[in-house]
Amino acid sequence: MKKNLKKEAAIAAMEWIKPNMKLGLGTGSTANELVHLIGDAVAEGLTITCIPTSKATYELAKTRNIPLATLDEEPLLDLTIDGADEITPDLSLIKGGGGAHLREKIVACASKAMLVIADESKRVEKLGTFPLPLEVLPFGLRATKNALEDIYASQGYSGSHGSLALRQKDGAPFVTDNGNYILDASMGYLDNPQALVSQFATVPGLIEHGFFLGIATAAIIAGNDGIITLKS
Ligand code: A5P
Repeated sequence: MKKNLKKEAAIAAMEWIKPNMKLGLGTGSTANELVHLIGDAVAEGLTITCIPTSKATYELAKTRNIPLATLDEEPLLDLTIDGADEITPDLSLIKGGGGAHLREKIVACASKAMLVIADESKRVEKLGTFPLPLEVLPFGLRATKNALEDIYASQGYSGSHGSLALRQKDGAPFVTDNGNYILDASMGYLDNPQALVSQFATVPGLIEHGFFLGIATAAIIAGNDGIITLKS
């Protein structure tokens, strides 16, 4: 039978969870596997307080009777466990495939540690095959898009036609939990993500990019040959 690698990673991550922790809960299909395992553990007596990174995770965790708090109620967390779209050997990440990277980053940065869980398809040598999600304010969208395109061009990325694409859902722009839009930037391999991040700060309509650089503490990656753990 084919292994559910996302679930395998989530099972391994349960070792990191200790009683009475304040735990950030990520978003996406891998994080959902973890939410179910935590739900089972809570039913068996685990005491924990979880802070969801999205409305979707909040809803799922609620159905599993997991004790929840907001980040305002618990502004310092012991650990956040979340998925990712790309993971390099030095634990640089692209996140936001589910459009939740702004809240995910706020929660991860309010945590003493961030553990990434993923199947091996997310491992890359260099970021950029997965389009970089850019959460932007709907106001001034065209000006923001132009400014971002100029940044990519100034750093030598030509991308392809439509390389900054407004994410769509059901025939309309996808709207994040924060009421914003997502531009997905398909530029191919990114040699210097940090240089892009520095330039992104000059664009006021860009709310948050999907790079997580120097944030993750460790990653549990499940493959058909077993589990590996990367540490920063
Ligand atoms: C959500 O916005 C993302 O950052 C997810 O963490 C990422 O897309 C991974 O999702 P999966 O676990 O569904 O692959």
